[in-house]
Amino acid sequence: MDSKDNKPAEWHGAKLDFAGSMSYGDYLGLDQILSAQHPLSPNHNEMLFIVQHQTSELWLKLMLHEMQAVRAQIRAGELPPAFKMLARVARIMDQLVHAWDVLATMTPPEYTAIRPYLGASSGFQSYQYRELEFILGNKNANMLPVHEKRPELHAILERELHAPSVYDEAVMLLARSGFAIAPERIEGGFTQPTRCDESVKAAWLEVYKDPEHHWALYELAEKLVDLETSFRFWRFRHVTTVERIIGFKTGTGGTAGVSYLRKMLDVVLFPELFALRTAL
Ligand code: HEM
Repeated sequence: MDSKDNKPAEWHGAKLDFAGSMSYGDYLGLDQILSAQHPLSPNHNEMLFIVQHQTSELWLKLMLHEMQAVRAQIRAGELPPAFKMLARVARIMDQLVHAWDVLATMTPPEYTAIRPYLGASSGFQSYQYRELEFILGNKNANMLPVHEKRPELHAILERELHAPSVYDEAVMLLARSGFAIAPERIEGGFTQPTRCDESVKAAWLEVYKDPEHHWALYELAEKLVDLETSFRFWRFRHVTTVERIIGFKTGTGGTAGVSYLRKMLDVVLFPELFALRTAL
């Protein structure tokens, strides 16, 4: 101990004086992040609800960062770096699947105590989630009006609605690799959700029938299937956790709740990659 002011003089060689340099909290902006939890109810459990959503949004931010780079790498024909990032995104999604276990510790009475304070706010209005759906090809222009009050967020979604998805880029790569892809599949604009296209299915089928000859495309396809599988688990855990907590009540966002979320389980992001399996 320093005798004058009771400060420890040394601890295992760690730097202890940050008067003039950047610390952990400075670098990470922890003041902003850790002062962004503002429970509105007097209920103890609201903190869990807030932190669960905020951490999900942070992971969504990273997934978007990775997926934008994946799209650029596929466009550039640089597949190995894209594989690395796709694997990372799938693992993030797996982690979010497990995160539902934490939220599932919230009981119906605990949630009921919070619900009146949530107003009409709902994950349905998550622009990052919508952006991720769009970048994966699940386009839906009906989701845009929710964001009109925030023009900068609306513009992000509008741009993403029109941009080729990661999967559209994979299909264009198939075409550039010599597979016969129907021109209307890659030239007709990209604002619609991905639909099963026979020419794309035939191309992937060729890849899967001879993986050794098309290894990079085969690996790309399997990485996409991994990601979609993890995303399906996330949707499933969301709806089952929601049913466990609110039963069949309507959602704060205005939908029928569980029945709406069950419909979303039917979304198929990369239809041909699943369809071809029956044909193999
Ligand atoms: C007690 C916790 C939760 C409940 C009761 C709940 C309930 C719901 C309901 C009922 C919907 C349908 C829209 C609506 O009418 O509100 C919904 C949508 C959604 N929720 Fe949750 N949710 C919970 C936690 C979470 C968490 C932690 C996240 C993570 C970000 C999340 C993300 C979403 C997203 C992204 C949608 C839109 C899904 C789509 O349109 O496909 N939810 N939620």
